[in-house]
Amino acid sequence: MKRILISSLFALSMPLLAQENATINIHANEGKQIIYKEIYGQFAEHLGTCIYGGLWVGENSSIPNIKGYRTDVFNALKNLHVPVLRWPGGCFADEYHWTDGIGPRDQRPKMQNNNWGGTIENNSFGTHEFLNLCEMLGCEPYISGNVGSGTVEELAKWVEYMTSAGDTPMAKLRRQNGRQEPWHVKFLGVGNESWGCGGNMRPEYYADLYRRYSTYCRNYDGNNLYKIASGASDYDYTWTKTLMDRVGHRMDGISLHYYTVTGWSGSKGSATKFNNDDYYWTMGKCLEIENVIKKHCDIMDQTDPKKQTGLLVDEWGTWWDEEQGTTRGHLYQQNALRDAFVAALTLNVFNKHTDRIRMANIAQVVNVLQSMILTNDKQMVLTPTYHVFEMYKGFQDATYLPLDLTCDSMSVRGDRKIPLVSTSAAKEKNGNIIISLANVSLKNSEDLTINLQGANVQKVTGRILTSKNITDFNDFDHPNVVEPTDFNNVKIKKGELKLKVPAKSIVVLELK
Ligand code: AHR
Repeated sequence: MKRILISSLFALSMPLLAQENATINIHANEGKQIIYKEIYGQFAEHLGTCIYGGLWVGENSSIPNIKGYRTDVFNALKNLHVPVLRWPGGCFADEYHWTDGIGPRDQRPKMQNNNWGGTIENNSFGTHEFLNLCEMLGCEPYISGNVGSGTVEELAKWVEYMTSAGDTPMAKLRRQNGRQEPWHVKFLGVGNESWGCGGNMRPEYYADLYRRYSTYCRNYDGNNLYKIASGASDYDYTWTKTLMDRVGHRMDGISLHYYTVTGWSGSKGSATKFNNDDYYWTMGKCLEIENVIKKHCDIMDQTDPKKQTGLLVDEWGTWWDEEQGTTRGHLYQQNALRDAFVAALTLNVFNKHTDRIRMANIAQVVNVLQSMILTNDKQMVLTPTYHVFEMYKGFQDATYLPLDLTCDSMSVRGDRKIPLVSTSAAKEKNGNIIISLANVSLKNSEDLTINLQGANVQKVTGRILTSKNITDFNDFDHPNVVEPTDFNNVKIKKGELKLKVPAKSIVVLELK
């Protein structure tokens, strides 16, 4: 990719030109790799009001619900085509004992949620409630198993309970609890953040534990588990290397966690009160995920050149200060247009590395960190991040199209350089081409020329997500400040598209 680099001093202190130019060459007949739909996955943890109040209110609630799941949130998620949902954590998973969450709800034992504010967990949302929700949404469940404080027997029996069709003790127990047929459960995480909240282990020790726990997670009655080892955080390449060497083909996938966060101690900054410099820093930090992914992939390539082991970025997204007036430890944050950019840019990176990335799960789906949806009692609002996931739906299971991008770059705080355009293209199953375009610049519009090699475009439709200010967000009183609108300003001429993408806007085009 050819880039004209602009120095930090110039970019931040001098007014930029009112308009930039960029060119994208899309190789429309060279697509090979499917973008796994699971890259558009979600994550729901027993944390704050993600589960209780967010997804689940119970059948007797005055909040409209379908069998206990809040109707407004359910419908919004259905519209998002959620491909996979990870549960019950996160850190919560390694203190969760699944037997507490089955049987009559009023008889389930309570526990203290030690990771997240010490809240009392009543276990009214358990295995049945989660797996039934996945069936209703039509998505794959991704169970995160307890290795930190649970036993091998406990995890093995959970798998049997969920997936055995036979005359087995756990299948019998499941039937007693009202579910005849087993559920389909493909994705199984063997621990979470085992280097931290999941047991503070060394990679060598965890590698052995993974081998032991995973041995007894059986494939019952045609249910084939895809077993995922608890992987590295950010730049911990030693963790990945150790697991690749010591576990190898015994894991189907290995996870990676990468948050767009300033640091783990002290203030992380406000979700809605930030300046332009903070915004550009955020773009740099979020784009750095590509280098991190490449380095983990290089390590994986050493022992797995055929790329049989998947990389699953099963936690990612922005992490800001908790909103004032909310419960400490519940990680409730607002979501501005800046967050939508983090989503768009990161998804464009994932699309590109789909030869290795098998899944990704943004943290988290409702009311926690970079969520899709915020709720407050009976009210619900869709965040700018939701709108990006909705606009990007067409990428799920589409064929990635290689492309060359030429655009300007700028240097930003943190000693990083960011291209001012981010893009991705894919061929959908119906033959349409989907193109995402993000103009990162806060000031300048971008004159784009898109050359399509190997495609005969007749018609283009598009949508744009932008707002007056990069700090704009949706709240319960103003739910439609940041939402997509139609974008029709595309000229088609001899296999070439010409369009102007306004500053700080995200455009998704559909080409027929
Ligand atoms: O997503 C919030 C927390 O972040 C998860 O529980 C944990 O895995 C990570 O540290």
